[in-house]
Amino acid sequence: MPNTSRRRFLRDTTLATAATALASRTSLFAQAATQVDATIRVFPAEPIATIQPEIYGHFLEHLGGVIYDGVWVGEKSKIANVHGIRKAFLDTMQAIKAPVIRWPGGCFADSYDWRDGIGPRDKRPQRSAFWDQEDSNAYGVHEFMETCKLIGAEPYLAADIRSLPARDFYQFVEYCNAPSTPLELGPEQAPGINSLAALRAKNGSPEPFHVRYWGVGNEVWGCGGNQTPEEYAGEWRRYTTWIPKYEGQEPLRLIACGANGSDARWTAAVMKGIAAKPPFGFSTHYYTSGDKDHFAAGSALKFDEPQYYDLLARAAYMDNIILESWAAIGETDHEHKVKIVMDEWGAWYGKDTELGPHYNLSQQSTMRDALLAGITLDIFQRHADKMAMANVAQTINCLHSLMLAEGDQFTLTPTFHIFKMYMGHMGGTSLRTEFAADAIANSIAQVTLVGGNSTAGAIAPARTLAGLSGSASLKGRTLTLSVVNPHLHEAVTSEIAIAGRTIAAVAGTVLVAADVHAHNDFAHPNEVATQPARIGTPTGGRLFHTFPPASVTALTITLA
Ligand code: AHR
Repeated sequence: MPNTSRRRFLRDTTLATAATALASRTSLFAQAATQVDATIRVFPAEPIATIQPEIYGHFLEHLGGVIYDGVWVGEKSKIANVHGIRKAFLDTMQAIKAPVIRWPGGCFADSYDWRDGIGPRDKRPQRSAFWDQEDSNAYGVHEFMETCKLIGAEPYLAADIRSLPARDFYQFVEYCNAPSTPLELGPEQAPGINSLAALRAKNGSPEPFHVRYWGVGNEVWGCGGNQTPEEYAGEWRRYTTWIPKYEGQEPLRLIACGANGSDARWTAAVMKGIAAKPPFGFSTHYYTSGDKDHFAAGSALKFDEPQYYDLLARAAYMDNIILESWAAIGETDHEHKVKIVMDEWGAWYGKDTELGPHYNLSQQSTMRDALLAGITLDIFQRHADKMAMANVAQTINCLHSLMLAEGDQFTLTPTFHIFKMYMGHMGGTSLRTEFAADAIANSIAQVTLVGGNSTAGAIAPARTLAGLSGSASLKGRTLTLSVVNPHLHEAVTSEIAIAGRTIAAVAGTVLVAADVHAHNDFAHPNEVATQPARIGTPTGGRLFHTFPPASVTALTITLA
């Protein structure tokens, strides 16, 4: 719980001192003229890197109601669809310009045979699949590619290296990427058409899918085969020794299976073992459990104040996960060519808000989850030099979803609004930004925090939560500043200054609700919705802005 009297004291003293210290250090800011709770300083002369739009990536797994009902309703469905794909899902993904989608899992991918998901739909085999479910394979490779095409997203395929041999991996690449036009063969052979490309053409797609992103295994330390890092490194070398390449196509971007949360030992050992053939990206999965003692527990809807702050503090531990992974990757990759792909992240609660029995791992999503999303995306942006991609787990009918759907019912979650509000950052240049605000103590922090993924992570305590956090990025004269105020009861007034520049105009959007437990459901789809931010007039080139309690704000600032 924040200590109010301490905050008032800080308002009058420490933060003014902090602002003064910053001002004298940089000589770029005028001293704060008004009493404020916080200061935000953006440094345009200190670019970090371009924010890869792919950090706004998505993840869809054959799990519960994600694919069947969430994405795929079938061509004959009464639910509005495009070629069998739920139209509301497509519209939503288009609205946020979803850049990349990871599929088909997750743990499901570790026992998925892509050949089951091609050819005439009525001839595809039904299989028992991971997550103790049956899969008709009605949604397969072509349906996924169609989904991506309609959205304008790039496909990111997770290859099964637990149950399929290396040959099936490179033939999957061949099926997706080989041209179906005649290719030159060796001496004494007439040019011919690649047989897998011909099969793809027969299945309706003469044009190659041009899939660049390939995950070589998923969670191989767990559902992907319970391997050691040394064993996985050996598998990586074997699976990647040769993969077909096609003229005119960009090189493949292979992604190695990374650690469970903060297990940097895994990252360092795998990187060492694959140094001769480094990946484009190194994946990491980090979920925030809803319970401080157990993984995948706690309630999406019922939580008290200490639990609220604790969850957000553990979510903010993402910053350490990135730094630890980066350092571990750097032990081998001294030039830091290999980037981080955080291809599963989000809140993971217990089973008390599932949409229904067949909607395994579905959960409700409140304002608290919107704040978690804002904190997480801001962390990614502040580490734009390290992050190649991130994929929220999972887009619809699952853990940290943007959408919930059941039959003809559909709603957007508060997290969707964060993705929409933060779009201004995509492709912008991330700028170093300092937030000076008094931190909030996490009164229930404990030595071993539950984080990571399917095991309790041994991560250091997140004893405090930043009183204000965010990120800034620049495109021309337009600066996007996103700010999370996690204080449950206190608005935070902040001075915002852009070093060496003058603020000419500001517009903005805020996501806030009377109660942080607020959420959207099918009967109340607009309980949580964005509204225009109440913006003060820029004064002397700076802005004084009040961030409401438990809110996420995105400001679009025009620089003079
Ligand atoms: O997103 C749910 C599951 O979490 C994924 O299948 C797996 O990769 C992770 O354990």
